[in-house]
This record gives sequence, C-alpha cells and structure tokens, in this order.
Amino acid sequence: MVQSSLRLGVNIDHVATVRNARGGDTPDPVRAARLAEETGADGITAHLREDRRHISDRDIERLMETLTLPLNFEMAATAEMQAIALRHRPHAVCIVPEKREERTTEGGLEVAREENQLAHFIAPLREAGCRVSIFIAADRRQIEAAHRIGAQVIELHTGAYCDAHAEGDFATRDRELAKMREMAALAHDLGLEVHAGHGLTYDCVQPVAALPQVMELNIGHFLIGEAIFLGLGPAIAEMRRLMDAARA
Ligand code: PXP
Repeated sequence: MVQSSLRLGVNIDHVATVRNARGGDTPDPVRAARLAEETGADGITAHLREDRRHISDRDIERLMETLTLPLNFEMAATAEMQAIALRHRPHAVCIVPEKREERTTEGGLEVAREENQLAHFIAPLREAGCRVSIFIAADRRQIEAAHRIGAQVIELHTGAYCDAHAEGDFATRDRELAKMREMAALAHDLGLEVHAGHGLTYDCVQPVAALPQVMELNIGHFLIGEAIFLGLGPAIAEMRRLMDAARA
C-alpha cells in the first residue's frame, strides 16, 4: 500500500555546525529539534560523524532524553557507532557511507559489495528494535542487496538530482528523477519503505515529494540556511506546504 501523506524529517546537523564554529553552547541543535517538533516536522535526523564535526555524543543523549518525535540516527557502519546506537536504541538508524575528507555524504552506501558484513552489522540493530535504513543510490543492485541483508527502509540519495537542477542541467536532472521513480517502485515492490533526501530545496523538492512510494524526506542544510532569513518554524512550514501540495 502506498501512503498518501509524506513525512518530513528535519536534519539538525548544521545547527551544530554553527555552534561548533565558536565552540560554545549556542545555537543549540536540541532547541532546534524542539522547535521543529512544534512546527510540522514528523521526525528529527542527526548524523553523529566519526570526527564529531557537528553533532556530538551529548547532543544524541539530549535528543533521546527530550524528543517526543522519532529520532533517525545517521551513522557509519563502524563498531563504535553500532555500540552507541545499541545504547540509545533510536527509532531508526540510517547507515551512511562516511569519508573523513568529504564535506557531506557524497554518495550512497556500497551494499552489494559488502553484503555479508552489512547483514551482520545490522542484525543486532534490528534485534534492538531500531528500524534499519540504508542510504543508497537509485541503483537496482544496491536496492536488491539492501533487501537481502534485511534492511526495512532505503533512503534514496537525491544529491545528483538536486545538483543537476541547481546547475540547470535539466536533461541529467530528469534522468536522475526517472531513475528514482523506477527504483522507488522496485524497492516498494520488494517490501522496503522508501525515503529520500540530500540537497533538497524549495525549488527541487516537489518532483521527489510526488513519487508515490516515497514516505519520508530528510532535509537539513537548506532548511537551516533558510532559517536565517525566515526563522526555522516558517522555513519548515513552507517546506511542508510544498511537499503536501506536490503529494496532493
Ligand atoms: N539524508 C541523509 C542520509 C544524509 O546523510 C543527509 C545529510 O546529512 C540528508 C538526508 C540531508 O541532506 P541535506 O542536509 O543536504 O538536506
């Protein structure tokens, strides 16, 4: 069954990026999460990176203590992160590739090549009650592998689509969107829940929001940037409005 309403997960990493630029306590990403909760978000996403460049261990603790919305905990497939996730048992764990030198998560996870390892890695997370999501490119091999290893959710990486849109390369943008459309349907037929995210803005969110199998969008950088001009609540409300309009 394809759900008509679409959830918005607000990624608060870059509130922590600004905080860490000065090394103090403000702006507080947990305060941003609470505000997001009050203004139309359906979930909060936070990525605890190996280098702790934005979200900190303490942020995750405080989010788990204070949030009523589900937390989608993004992490690399490392023993350290697995132990942290098992300690906190967030609603969802999203496994992402992580490179130390990258500015942001550049591509999807290579699931097909690491199938056995990843199957073992996610099993205890599932047993602990976390929904396991895998961040991948819209690629048949990766989606079928994500299904075989026992993931419940895939998140399609929308970065290439968003970049092409921003660069005015509409042929590439439309090709990327067509791939996502086909792969969202495939994943849904396999019984996977489909999410999408990375790089989404007011300008490019609607065609992705209109894909009927997509049940959740995770959006961060653009919303936190827009909050400078509009305030976080109105920035989220406008994204929500565009998503709902596309879905209707
Ligand atoms: N989904 C995943 C798996 C991500 O890694 C990120 C970036 O941390 C996002 C969504 C949100 O991307 P953006 O900050 O570009 O909106």
